[in-house]
Parts: sequence; C-alpha cells; structure tokens
Amino acid sequence: MTVTIVGSQLGDEGKGGVVDLYGDAADVVARYQGGDNAGHTVVHDGETYKLSLVPSGAVRGKIGVLGNGCVINPRTLFDEISTLQEKGLDPDVRVAERAHVILPFHRVLDGIEEDVKSESDQEVGTTGRGIGPTYEDKAGRRGVRIGDLLDPDVLRERLEYVVPQKRALVEDVYDIAVEDLDDPDAFDVDALFEEFREFGQRLEEEEMTVNASTFLTDAMADGQTVMFEGAQGTIIDIDHGNYPYVTSSNPTAGGAAVGTGLSPGVIADGEVIGIVKAYLTRVGSGPLPTELGGVVGDTPGYDEQGDGENEELATYIREEGGEYGTVTGRPRRVGWLDMPMLRHSARVNGFTGLAVNHIDVLAGLDEVKVGHSYDHEGEEIFTIPSTTEQWGECEANFRSFDGWPEVDWEAVAEDGYDAIPENARTYLEYLADELDTPIYAVGVGPGREETVVVEDPYE
Ligand code: IMP
Repeated sequence: MTVTIVGSQLGDEGKGGVVDLYGDAADVVARYQGGDNAGHTVVHDGETYKLSLVPSGAVRGKIGVLGNGCVINPRTLFDEISTLQEKGLDPDVRVAERAHVILPFHRVLDGIEEDVKSESDQEVGTTGRGIGPTYEDKAGRRGVRIGDLLDPDVLRERLEYVVPQKRALVEDVYDIAVEDLDDPDAFDVDALFEEFREFGQRLEEEEMTVNASTFLTDAMADGQTVMFEGAQGTIIDIDHGNYPYVTSSNPTAGGAAVGTGLSPGVIADGEVIGIVKAYLTRVGSGPLPTELGGVVGDTPGYDEQGDGENEELATYIREEGGEYGTVTGRPRRVGWLDMPMLRHSARVNGFTGLAVNHIDVLAGLDEVKVGHSYDHEGEEIFTIPSTTEQWGECEANFRSFDGWPEVDWEAVAEDGYDAIPENARTYLEYLADELDTPIYAVGVGPGREETVVVEDPYE
C-alpha cells in the first residue's frame, strides 16, 4: 500500500518529521514533484540532516526515488549524496529517466525574471533554484530529461536547440550580455555538454536511473510499502494554490499519481495524510489573511518593520518555531491557522488523516486564535476564493481558544494523546471536526520521538 504525505498549507509544515516517523515502515520513499527548492530537516541519532532534493527516507536506509514529476539538479543530487556518505550513510537513490533536468541557465533565468518582476513588485520570492524555468521548458517540449543525459547524441541535440534560445532571451529580451553574467558557461553548449554528460555517465555507472512507474509497481508487487513524500504545499500548487505566488508543480495528492506513474487508484487505495502546522507561515509574497506581523519585502504593502502586540507575537512564534527558510534562511511570515485554506486543502487532496505539528511552539500563550471564515464582499465564506486578488480582499473572522501551558513534551509523546494539555486537545478536535478528518499524529517537538502517534497508517 501507499501513504502519501501532503503539505496542507504553504509548505514548511514539518513534513520531513512525519515522513521520517511513518517512513520507518516504508521500504521505498518517493518524491513526485519539485526539486531542490524543498527543505527537509531530519533529526536522526542526534544528527540534523538538511536535504533539499534527496528523499528524507534515504537517511534511514530506505530506497529513495525521485519520480518523473521532479526536476533534478544533478549538482545538488550528487552534493547531497556525498554529504550523506561523509556522515557514514550509504544512500540508495533512484532517479526517473522521465524527470527533467535543471540546467545552470534555468537558475540564472529564475534570478533574472525575479529581478525584472521586482521592479513592479510582482516577484514571487522563488527559491532561485531554477524550478519555474525548468518546468516551463518541460511544458514547452524543449526540456532535457534525465534519460537524455545517458545518450550523448541526444543530449547534444537537445542543448543545441535550447541553449541559443536562452541566450537570445537573456540578450534580446532582458538586454543583458551573457559574458557579463557571473556564470557565462551556463549558456555555453560545449561546457554544458561536458558537465552534464559526466553526470549521465555517473548516473549510469551507479545504476541510479529507473522507469519510476515500473520500478514502483514491481516494488509493490514484491510486497514492499511505498511512501510518497510531497514537497511544498497545497496553497503553492500551480493549479490549486494562489497563482501566481506558487511553485511550478503539483504538490497536491493527484501529483503523486502523475509524478510517479502509479495510477490514481493506487494512491486512493492508500492513505493521504495532510500535514498541518498549528499556525501558519509563508515564505515570499502573496496574501495571508491571518498574518500577525509582517516581513519587509515579502508582506504586500509592508515597507517598514512595525511594532505592537501582534508584531511581538509574530516574532515570538517565529523565534520559538525557528521559522526561517531551510533553503534560503529567510524569515518566514507568521499568522494564525487559516481554516478556509485548510477546508480547500482537505477537499482537493482527500485527506484520510491529519498530522498536526508544532503545538508545542504555541504553548505558554494566553490565547490561540484561528481564522474560522472570511468576510469577502459582505459575505461570510468558508473556503479560499479562486483568485489571489479576491483572496487578498478577504478579512479573517477569528475564533479564540484558551492557550495551553508549556509541559514536558517528551513525556507527553511517550504517554499518548490524552497527555496533551486539555486546551490543546480542544483545538485539535475543532480542527478534526471542521475538516471531517481524524488526527493521526501530533508533533510536539522537532525530533520524530517528539510525536504523539494516534494512528499508524501502515497498520
Ligand atoms: P520556486 O518553487 O523556487 O519556484 O518558488 C515559488 C514559490 O514557492 C515561492 O513563494 C517559494 O517561497 C515557494 N516555495 C518553494 N519551495 C518551498 C518550500 O519547500 N517551502 C515553502 N515555500 C516554498
């Protein structure tokens, strides 16, 4: 069977910890979308691993698969594998031949486009990893796939087609001389061919490439259990998120089928677990109706760091929760839980269970709020509108919950659900009722031991 882990909010819900917890029972952990824009933190044997591409299950000796829906930067792939090897691990990572390759010019173009957009305050706040430009080329049928790296003639042909177009884009559209860029080789066919052909040879020698669909189907036929590790989150899904402040892939559960080559029936036969952070954070621009404070440069219309009670609260939660980007180190915007967002997420993904993280971060506050619904154009609405502009006009209607005390969370994790402070349980039960989905796990600290497990999806 399969278990699919999906972020229900804006990414950074603590998926890594849940994957780590439940992934123990899985033989294979597969990613189905995104690339090295993800930031997964896994704490294992006192060691903290920060991964952006390699599936986090690889830390625990699982087979890690990067599905066809992923975009792969081979430089990152081999760097992360080397880092794990230096720490004494022996990661087994397989890469789909149908996955697309992030080439150096994709990163350069990501940066240029963000700069241009920032002139009119339209930047997305991307991670700068070249994700969007790579998916653009995939959809434009001019991409380079992992399988192409294995065949020198095909690789050269693809590069000879696409590189001059990218060069022209930089020089003729953006009016930048390629030779003035930090990395002019990013637009040089021969340099790219040499580097990426070598990656192809290494992938081949180490037998890392697979047809993800047959590999996973065969694994399941052999009785192996598969976990799908969604990266990012539902509200930054290219279709179901708040476009254009989105990533360029489908983190939602449907992506697990398309991005691996297993049928939707296989995914639906298993469990789909929505990861919820007990409050909300956001990296980059876009609306956030339950936002508490603001981050200069990211919060729309917020040009100067303010003060006041809510700002203090935002700073407190940011510090307690370590809410700084795993990949970029940027401070995250902080808000209360947003129920219209979560109702949308539960519907789009069909969650069978919820894992709620970070309730320990909110401990000690007198009051904890949630945005229960929105007011929009004089009407009360319960889900997020389809356009970002309408979403930006929404005002949250808050519900208030009594806060819960700081307790010995490790002991709580050991003792189980009933040991969670009563007010926190009231909060969790409100969430489960509103989303009509049971709570499977509650995160009470960063390590996987600091999780209250209510339900094991593999049992
Ligand atoms: P990109 O994926 O780098 O193109 O970035 C597009 C948007 O998705 C930006 O707002 C990023 O901040 C956001 N994003 C991408 N990956 C993550 C993630 O792993 N966590 C949170 N936000 C992310």
